[in-house]
Amino acid sequence: MKRVLSGIQPSGKLTLGNYIGALKNFVTLQHDHVCNFMVVDLHAITVPQNPADLREQSESVAALFVAAGIDPAKANVYMQSHVRQHAQLGWMLTTLTSMGELERMTQFKDKSAGKESVGAGLFVYPALMAADILIYNADLVPVGEDQKQHLELTRDLAGRFNSRYGDYFKMPEPYIPKVGARIMSLDDASKKMSKSNPNPGSRIALLDSPDEIRKKISRATTDSGREVKFDPANKPEVSNLITIYSQCSGLSVAEVEARYDGQMYGPFKKDLAEVVVSQLEPLQQRYHDIRESGEIRSILRQGAEKASEMAEKTLTDVQQLMGFLPY
Ligand code: AMP
Ligand code: TRP
Repeated sequence: MKRVLSGIQPSGKLTLGNYIGALKNFVTLQHDHVCNFMVVDLHAITVPQNPADLREQSESVAALFVAAGIDPAKANVYMQSHVRQHAQLGWMLTTLTSMGELERMTQFKDKSAGKESVGAGLFVYPALMAADILIYNADLVPVGEDQKQHLELTRDLAGRFNSRYGDYFKMPEPYIPKVGARIMSLDDASKKMSKSNPNPGSRIALLDSPDEIRKKISRATTDSGREVKFDPANKPEVSNLITIYSQCSGLSVAEVEARYDGQMYGPFKKDLAEVVVSQLEPLQQRYHDIRESGEIRSILRQGAEKASEMAEKTLTDVQQLMGFLPY
């Protein structure tokens, strides 16, 4: 069975973008792959985090994984920091990475733009992400469009390691959905929907109440035209809403267009809000049940134990190949 690895940062409340671009695909892949899904806390601290918030968000994101449909009996769900081998391999891969490669990363450019002081962790973060993937020799990495560049670097680092130290790592492939790999902000369709955007109206959080969801969708920016047509170049806002509709209803983009042929934005947005609410309501119910049951901590422990076994084997092999003196 092929191996799958992915991670989501506990740096804010998960959005519909995280769900459509990543989480939904984790759920699909778990049935016929060996899966590891992490809450990547070591990545989250590359920008300042309040300790109490980090703790709460970490548990919340893990519970959302399960609420979204990841079955801990099928896939390992765990905290990145509980599998210490990630940080160790991360350091080794950092030494194989050039400054120039890291300077070209667009996520780094975006996150550091206009900042007076930028942490070194934010800069070297892609080498840690490469370690996350390579420590399990993952075949497939389900992510949204914005992570493609990090995946390319991971493949470059795997190739570099193999040519220096012997063929060891497989080349991981990104698994990027054809529709929904980049859900855009509700207030500005030139930016991706993000959990760290200062305007909460720009995103739908997975735990937003039905009324918040209705309000946010009714206020979402649209162009001054009236046709519900999928045309990202000329109608980016409406196209984004059609994408969300399609992903939450299971209808294709063409089916959504056909359903609203000749109708205006008002009824379309109203229905869209109900489609999103009915997608998220059962997830929210499961989320609250899981949090109340307190079971998430033991799920995380079991996930970390199983993941550590795979990770330790890789780390030992890599240490040997790189010439570290055995313990
Ligand atoms: P992050 O929130 O940066 O930890 O992202 C976690 C996962 O969600 C990654 O695979 C991202 O590519 C994906 N993701 C984040 N935002 C979006 C978005 N607006 N549209 C699609 N995928 C997204
Ligand atoms: N860098 C990813 C993000 O910002 C999160 C992440 C960390 C990740 N490690 C990973 C994603 C490994 C896939 C595989 O969204």
